[in-house]
Amino acid sequence: MGHAKAAIDKINVKNLPKHIAIIMDGNGRWAKQKGLPRIAGHWAGAEALRDIVRTCCKLNIQVLSVFAFSSENWKRPVQEVNTIMNLLLYYLKKEVDELDKNNVRIHVSGAWEELPERIVGQIKKSIQQTQNNTGLILNIVLNYGSRNEILSACKKLYKDVQSDIISIDGIDESTFQNYLYTRDLPDPDLLIRPSGELRISNFLLWQIAYTELWFTEVYWPDFKSDDLLKAILDFQKRERRYGGLKS
Ligand code: IPE
Ligand code: IPE
Ligand code: MG
Repeated sequence: MGHAKAAIDKINVKNLPKHIAIIMDGNGRWAKQKGLPRIAGHWAGAEALRDIVRTCCKLNIQVLSVFAFSSENWKRPVQEVNTIMNLLLYYLKKEVDELDKNNVRIHVSGAWEELPERIVGQIKKSIQQTQNNTGLILNIVLNYGSRNEILSACKKLYKDVQSDIISIDGIDESTFQNYLYTRDLPDPDLLIRPSGELRISNFLLWQIAYTELWFTEVYWPDFKSDDLLKAILDFQKRERRYGGLKS
């Protein structure tokens, strides 16, 4: 606790990432290391998220995107998938009032409308309940794959060109961005991947073109506010040039 406080004081509040994205990875290995079933890791991961959301609120971060389930995660045993879905439902039900009280607005990215009805219903409810909140936007990235998102955007754009809603010469990067799940959100400034994997795993490929990447060996369930603060402090040492020269 004293530790976290010390780090918070070092943070420059004028240079905070507006949008932090996290690939919440390592739940299974965390559990294995403790001799527990994989699902225990997913539960512990949900707890870790609660702590990180709280810290983001304290820091006045605008957007926190968390990768909760990828479209490729359907390849896992049906048992694990079901338990993850139930956990998600439970998390939303249990946390929405608390999130609402903390002025958090829930946003969901991905093909979530294709999920089982009981989850779709709860997601709609959570979005609705928090829609007028003005604090942190918690963007839960669910049933999401970035390549598919880009492909779908191309298809929708093509249809709009065919129906003369848009002219082909009028398409620029910001037009394209409007066809993505993240159309209302700024691009991430900082992307965090725990668990020691040094890859993106089909997460926000378009959106992270100039995002600062930060990796740690820590498994997601062990990822604490201190780790987040460390990532932000490192972010503040980076020089973002966007292809230009040092300013
Ligand atoms: C991330 O943890 C959670 C999801 C992908 C749903 P993992 O389940 O991938 O954990 P590891 O990578 O096997 O440790
Ligand atoms: C990325 O983790 C997806 C989520 C954390 C939801 P994975 O565990 O699915 O990624 P890979 O398989 O290690 O690339
Ligand atoms: Mg994993």
